[in-house]
Amino acid sequence: MFATRFSVFSVILLAVPTTLAGSASDWRGRAIYQLLTDRFSLSNDSATPCNTTQVQYCGGTWNGITNHLDYIQGLGFDSIWISPVVANVEQTTAYGQAYHGYWAQDITSLNAHFGTADDLKALSSALHKRNMYLMVDIVVNHFVSTSSVATSDNATLDFSKLVPFSKATDFHPYCLVTDYNNQTNVEQCWLGDEHLPLADLNTEDPSIVSTMNNWIEGLVKSYGIDGLRIDTAKHIRKDFWPAFAKAAGVFTMGEVLIGDVGYAAPYTEVLDSVLDYPNYYTLTSSFSSQTGNFSALISSVTASQQSYSTPSVVGSFLENHDNPRFQSITQDISLVKNAMTWPFIQDGIPILYQGQEQGFTGGAEPSNREALWPTAFQMSNKPLVAHVTTLNAVRKAAAAANSSFLTTPLKFITQQDPSLLAVSKPPLIALLTNLGSNSTKSSTWVASGVASANEVLVDVLSCATVKADGSGGVSVAVVGGLPQVLIPASALAKNGTVCPSVATGSTGSSSSGGGSGKKSGAISIRSGLGFEGMGDGWVVRVLGVVLLGFLAQGW
Ligand SMILES: *[C@@H]1O[C@H](CO)[C@@H](O)[C@H](O)[C@H]1NC(C)=O
Ligand SMILES: *[C@@H]1O[C@H](CO)[C@@H](O)[C@H](O)[C@H]1NC(C)=O
Ligand SMILES: *[C@@H]1O[C@H](CO)[C@@H](O)[C@H](O)[C@H]1NC(C)=O
Ligand SMILES: *[C@@H]1O[C@H](CO)[C@@H](O)[C@H](O)[C@H]1NC(C)=O
Ligand SMILES: *[C@@H]1O[C@H](CO)[C@@H](O)[C@H](O)[C@H]1NC(C)=O
Ligand SMILES: *[C@@H]1O[C@H](CO)[C@@H](O)[C@H](O)[C@H]1NC(C)=O
Ligand SMILES: *[C@@H]1O[C@H](CO)[C@@H](O)[C@H](O)[C@H]1NC(C)=O
Ligand SMILES: *[C@@H]1O[C@H](CO)[C@@H](O)[C@H](O)[C@H]1NC(C)=O
Repeated sequence: MFATRFSVFSVILLAVPTTLAGSASDWRGRAIYQLLTDRFSLSNDSATPCNTTQVQYCGGTWNGITNHLDYIQGLGFDSIWISPVVANVEQTTAYGQAYHGYWAQDITSLNAHFGTADDLKALSSALHKRNMYLMVDIVVNHFVSTSSVATSDNATLDFSKLVPFSKATDFHPYCLVTDYNNQTNVEQCWLGDEHLPLADLNTEDPSIVSTMNNWIEGLVKSYGIDGLRIDTAKHIRKDFWPAFAKAAGVFTMGEVLIGDVGYAAPYTEVLDSVLDYPNYYTLTSSFSSQTGNFSALISSVTASQQSYSTPSVVGSFLENHDNPRFQSITQDISLVKNAMTWPFIQDGIPILYQGQEQGFTGGAEPSNREALWPTAFQMSNKPLVAHVTTLNAVRKAAAAANSSFLTTPLKFITQQDPSLLAVSKPPLIALLTNLGSNSTKSSTWVASGVASANEVLVDVLSCATVKADGSGGVSVAVVGGLPQVLIPASALAKNGTVCPSVATGSTGSSSSGGGSGKKSGAISIRSGLGFEGMGDGWVVRVLGVVLLGFLAQGW
């Protein structure tokens, strides 16, 4: 049955997009725009409203995403993370419809609400033509069975509609996760609740393991996927992951929802990366009010730097679809801009959740899953669009100016004033504060030895310049509670898009000499290339067909 279903995919193999790359080091310098496929863009660009409270499909599609890659690229992102792509339960459950994609029913078919296999391939190819990467969200831990949506009564748990695992013994015996201090309970009991139990796949069974490994290999190859975001990774035994990740053959980032670095860190040994939840919690609390305490942020980052296997590739984020948006906590624009700056000057890969750039304020799920299309993808006169575009550009400029930028851990520079936070990550210096926009307190960041003697630095968020003293120190007064991100004027190109009027760099690598030697220190916003031409070599695609032919036989 599995092979038969797979052959449906095989028919359309000629259009298979090739994976661009996808190792952890390929991803390190990237920046990810997280979107919810159902909520990003409609195929027809109509003004159809989307009411998040109704927890229903609102109509977003893969074609809709393909049509608006200019917007994402215009923000400076070179990668997207999309919702899970597989067929989900169709019924309206006690918690609404599966518009988010996390309630898989048949992992060998695609979610028809989002489009066809060709649409997904077209999205992958369109991304690759722009040198952008595709990260797909996947769920291994659980499925949702048709009749289990209404009741969890043992007698009526019905696995027969699930594909390719349709027997009760393919799943752990029913018990809900109740004890997060008991890892066996976390791994072998079910998420969800009695109204919507999530059937917990028996990932101890070797034949299930092998089927899942074949599945992910096929999925990645069929759609030219460059990376995976792995849902509920901590709910599966750690030693399941290495073989799965190897079969996938691309970058893996696990969701390990926990504030404790000590709990999260071991998952960075079995997957390439995790979403940096420990940092998310301290980031949110330290910037959401004037009383936020930076000590906790500093401790969590220091602990991560010491315990993550590769801190430079963890996912650094302020918002996502599972947590209240930052602007549901505070709408002080200075606090918002400070908090938003953090993921871009942190050690990891920055991830921005759709709508943050538009100033969305949704609270807890489902309010935080607003459709983006009512904004008409407007970029002008949007302060946070400008903010994130600059942050992406300066991160690229820093990486181009210093080849060690992406791999060298940031350093905190101790401040006397507890409302101030200063970070050095050469050639960047980030000066942050939670004073807020209305503070009348006079505060000054002081950082010694962070620049070259008498070097001219530019705050890319205001284009004001700062001159380092004779020993490379800077002293900068806080204005309006706003953050500042300093970079040497020589690392910005005169004909670039970041503060060109004060830039002194030329094209090619900056005067610091550590760059790639090929890239300009400044980043231009590429315009869309449309659909003309095929970026993928046909030879590679033909090879892909042959490989997949073998795979299909294996199934
Ligand atoms: C959204 O849906 C909820 C629940 O059905 C309803 O109470 C609310 O009035 C709707 N909002 C709008 C703006 O239609
Ligand atoms: C556009 O697509 C949406 C979502 O599928 C649909 O609800 C709406 O009716 C369509 N509008 C037009 C004008 O076709
Ligand atoms: C399912 O059966 C087990 C074993 O008989 C029992 O412990 C459990 O309470 C039952 N679950 C439900 C929801 O009835
Ligand atoms: C841990 O959870 C498992 C599965 O629910 C259970 O069998 C076991 O008794 C629990 N262990 C402890 C110490 O509570
Ligand atoms: C901030 O947190 C640290 C512990 O992380 C604590 O020692 C300190 O007293 C706190 N400061 C304030 C002002 O609450
Ligand atoms: C700042 O002060 C103004 C005027 O008093 C007030 O309207 C505004 O709400 C304040 N903003 C914040 C974030 O406290
Ligand atoms: C800057 O000018 C050089 C040629 O001098 C050109 O190669 C480069 O693309 C330009 N950069 C931008 C961002 O326009
Ligand atoms: C480049 O980064 C490394 C690591 O942080 C640092 O030691 C070096 O001084 C930097 N070079 C320049 C020119 O910024």
